[in-house]
Amino acid sequence: MVIAQGAEAGGHVAGQISTMVLVPRIVDAVAPALVLAAGGIADARGLAAALCLGADGVVMGTRFLATPEANAHPVYKASLVAASEESTVRTVLFGKGWPHAPHRTLRTAFVREWLGREGETQGTRPDEPVIGSTAIAGTEMPVQRFVSMPPNVHATGDIESMALLAGQSVGLVGEIHPAADIVREMVDGAENLIRGLSQKLHQTATHSSVGVVLPPAEPAKRKRGDPQQKASPAERLAGLALALVSDLLHPRRQCSRTEWSTPDQRIPRSANTTLQFSKEP
Ligand SMILES: Cc1cc2nc3c(=O)[nH]c(=O)nc-3n(C[C@H](O)[C@H](O)[C@H](O)COP(=O)(O)O)c2cc1C
Repeated sequence: MVIAQGAEAGGHVAGQISTMVLVPRIVDAVAPALVLAAGGIADARGLAAALCLGADGVVMGTRFLATPEANAHPVYKASLVAASEESTVRTVLFGKGWPHAPHRTLRTAFVREWLGREGETQGTRPDEPVIGSTAIAGTEMPVQRFVSMPPNVHATGDIESMALLAGQSVGLVGEIHPAADIVREMVDGAENLIRGLSQKLHQTATHSSVGVVLPPAEPAKRKRGDPQQKASPAERLAGLALALVSDLLHPRRQCSRTEWSTPDQRIPRSANTTLQFSKEP
């Protein structure tokens, strides 16, 4: 079994390729070995997408931190719930004990203060300041600055200066939720999504129901004698892709299509554009 971990992932993350691109490449490279997709997956949509990319299952870290069962410190959990997908950074900052190993962590005030000075944080200086204490398997221990271990429920001290490891999927984490419910909702949701995809594909390509304008049909390429002039498979796929984008921009996800369609707010192709999402319901 192989775990394909994309750069969105929380915790230690060696690669810089996104899950979307990495998973099908790994699936092809190691077939017929089982592949689990990791990084950026936190709900039913992520699970369904991973399966569509060819994965046999998923590995999740960030989502399970915000559960009653997780041993994470309450301040850590609260920070996860409050964070957005832009709140993390891939860095080697917490290099004590595991130097030069990239990891994705919340961009806290402490992290912001030290970014750019990671060269100073990789050593094993015994006199590194102690910022708190914790207990692991019943053994009390001090927590030195820049240790890559995140704060567990026993940690005391400056929790917000410890390694609050998290992936970009933290933007999808809006509440503390029981682990069993998360798994159940993901599996049920993914099943429903996948069931609906075939219908969505058909409707989108044949009726352009979400306003997708398919390229004009070239009669020469049409199958002769097809009375319904059905869209070609390529057109259907193009329609599905655009439909999924359109779906993401739907008002129920707080980004209205009318905002996009007014000329002065149309997003210029050349500009770097940031969409602001809110975690508010
Ligand atoms: C707090 C935390 C600790 C982790 N510890 C490990 C670890 O010890 N070994 C490991 O292989 N992966 C570890 N990971 C990475 C996960 O196995 C997984 O690849 C990652 O969480 C998936 O991305 P996600 O955070 O977007 O769900 C950790 C992730 C987090 C968030």
